[in-house]
Amino acid sequence: MSVRHFLTLNSLNQDELLSIINRASVLKKQFKQKNFETTLSNRVLGMIFEKSSTRTRVSFEAGMAQLGGHAIYLSPTGSQIGRGEPIEDTARVLSKMVDCIMLRTFEHERLELFASYSDVPVINGLSDSFHPCQLLADLLTYTENRGSIQGKKVVWIGDGNNMCHSYMNAAKIFDFKLNIACPEGFDPDAGLLDETKDFVSIIREPEKAVENADLIVTDVWASMGQEDEQAQRLEKFAPYQVNTELMKYANGDALFMHCLPAHRGEEVSAAVLEGPQSVVWEEAGNRLHSQKALLEFLLR
Ligand code: CP
Ligand code: NVA
Repeated sequence: MSVRHFLTLNSLNQDELLSIINRASVLKKQFKQKNFETTLSNRVLGMIFEKSSTRTRVSFEAGMAQLGGHAIYLSPTGSQIGRGEPIEDTARVLSKMVDCIMLRTFEHERLELFASYSDVPVINGLSDSFHPCQLLADLLTYTENRGSIQGKKVVWIGDGNNMCHSYMNAAKIFDFKLNIACPEGFDPDAGLLDETKDFVSIIREPEKAVENADLIVTDVWASMGQEDEQAQRLEKFAPYQVNTELMKYANGDALFMHCLPAHRGEEVSAAVLEGPQSVVWEEAGNRLHSQKALLEFLLR
């Protein structure tokens, strides 16, 4: 059987994704009881980071340890990739030594190229275009708090970025409505918009987009690699802050999510981030359980 990668949410079908989310719930209960099933003993995950990370690194590394395996961290500068060794060479070498590779990188094509040279499963730990691992955690968080996301109204506020793209994929796979409120010039990818058009709408005014929403999601206004645009983006995105006023337009029981790290006072007010509708800490913790379930799926 050919090796399965997890490069976008579309790498797996709805049933497979649901089975991962269900398994993640079981693993989460076991984690709380400190009752670990070592289903991946002696298996090794290689993790290559070409960008910074806190949650992705710690959740994969802790997850492999809890499953009885091991994870190796390669930092943005601490490997030969950082000195220009071709990605194709690294993929072929690492796949002779480890059982699975997670890559966090810039252009999505770089991840696809890496995967095409790898004999072992490759996981997208974030690219400029997608962040599917975060969606596994977000879907687990929504399901645990509110049940199935099918038919719900989700609103993305802010940049049409990697997280937004993964939400667009999720809307199509899980059949929910996604409103995207972004300033002109910061729309998500046009091709993906066309592919998901039956599920996704762009609505410029945040208040209108948020009406009767079940879930509000946002992310930083300048992603990793866009630091130079920070000042210009601050101005353009100012009307797109998720604050208490905006949350009033959503359903009373709407949840708030953010993949973190968050910039309080920019894309989200401190009051919303720390408020009763926010599930961001649980969402971050769910990275651990959902990725353990993903690793089991890819490796067993
Ligand atoms: N949400 C997320 O991927 O966080 P890190 O950048 O800390 O890994
Ligand atoms: N859009 C953000 C997500 C960080 C987890 C970035 O790419 O920097």
